[in-house]
Amino acid sequence: MKLAIIGTGYVGLITGACFAEFGYQTVCIDKDEIRVNDLNNSKCPFYEPGIDNLLHKHLHKTKLLSFSSSLSQSVNDADIIFITVGTPTKRIENEADLSYVWNAAEEISNNINKYCIVVTKSTVPVGTTREIKNIISKKINEKNFDVVSNPEFLREGSAINDFMRPDRVIIGCENKKSEDIMKELYRPLYLIETPIISTTIESSEVIKYASNSFLATKISFINQVADLCEKVGADVQDVAKGMGIDKRIGNKFLHAGPGYGGSCFPKDVKAFISTAEKNDINFSILTAADKFNEERIIKITNNIISKANLAKGSQVSLLGLSFKPNTDDIRDSTSLKIAKLLQNKGITIKSYDPEAMDNAKKENIELILCSNAYEACEDTKVIIIGTEWNEFRALDFLKIKSANRNRVIFDLRNIYNAKELRDIGFQYFGTGT
Ligand code: UGA
Repeated sequence: MKLAIIGTGYVGLITGACFAEFGYQTVCIDKDEIRVNDLNNSKCPFYEPGIDNLLHKHLHKTKLLSFSSSLSQSVNDADIIFITVGTPTKRIENEADLSYVWNAAEEISNNINKYCIVVTKSTVPVGTTREIKNIISKKINEKNFDVVSNPEFLREGSAINDFMRPDRVIIGCENKKSEDIMKELYRPLYLIETPIISTTIESSEVIKYASNSFLATKISFINQVADLCEKVGADVQDVAKGMGIDKRIGNKFLHAGPGYGGSCFPKDVKAFISTAEKNDINFSILTAADKFNEERIIKITNNIISKANLAKGSQVSLLGLSFKPNTDDIRDSTSLKIAKLLQNKGITIKSYDPEAMDNAKKENIELILCSNAYEACEDTKVIIIGTEWNEFRALDFLKIKSANRNRVIFDLRNIYNAKELRDIGFQYFGTGT
């Protein structure tokens, strides 16, 4: 089976490399020639654990993977073509901007000449895959292609593992022929008994948004519980543990923190609300989860400013800039949002992040970037732990204490034991504790 993947962003690249690992001849296509050249030299445009090895192995050893900037030369002998282009939020409305998806569909229709399946893996609102079918069928007889929705559930930082060991694979299709081919594609996962769920195209598209929106709502819920815990003397970590042990609730995505960020949850929640509105559904639960999340970061920043008595000219330490650990992605990062809010008040930020500093440099924000966490913690009024990178989990606070007279910590991710830090002389503030 030959595969073509349109778009070498995060999803396209991980998907392409993992399908090559399954043993399929895979070509990934991108209009950006510099990116394609870099990728053909195993240079990955982002940090993701394990991707460099996969690229190297399948570009140079198995030769199952290649990158091309020519869609016309790459899709015509593919059995399955995946659309993995970006679907950003539109500037003015909250809905997804599908222009890259429509372009891809148009180009596919101009370049296929044998039966193939066109799969949407990009996160697209319900109805999009059918519209892709309409676009392609203007040029190609409907007998000569099928469309399928096959959403991805990859988390940045653990995407390769998520691809190789998924909780489920969703295949939204409209006939047995395409369903069987898609099931055959995912046959390598049968060995580990991965549930492969066949649905209609519409259900599959909704499953993706409903899953991300549910997880985002779960996070807003536990964060609101955390706020209550702070007022009543409870500890949100114990509360989450006590709730999560109930299998109906589950312990995942119950970690209180500064709110959800990243390139998916904020965007997908808004797009799902927008789809609901268009269909006269008032998604009040999701709207509340989204609003609470947006306001949370402002409240947290104001809380830090007032508790630590920060003023114009104060200096703070910010550990972590990426939206979560094990990625260099800073899109909608809560850490960067805090940094921007603090900077607006004339506060100086010393920061360190293991992978995201190069991306942070491109942002419109002045940060004093340090070469390690200890340097970032020297001589500041407050230390904020913004991202829970492993290397921040066991810092030597006696060493930090000797270089930081103020000794105030805001552990937004609850990675430290409050008592231990208070015992050695730090003023410690966790989240929901
Ligand atoms: C998310 C989903 O988890 C993936 O299944 C999905 O495929 C992906 O979006 C996507 O649509 O492409 P990702 O954005 O990489 O993946 O990251 P998550 O691990 O889901 O974290 C999202 C945000 O929630 C982060 O800001 C994280 O810090 C926050 N979070 C997560 C919490 O605050 N608490 C938690 O308990 C879990």
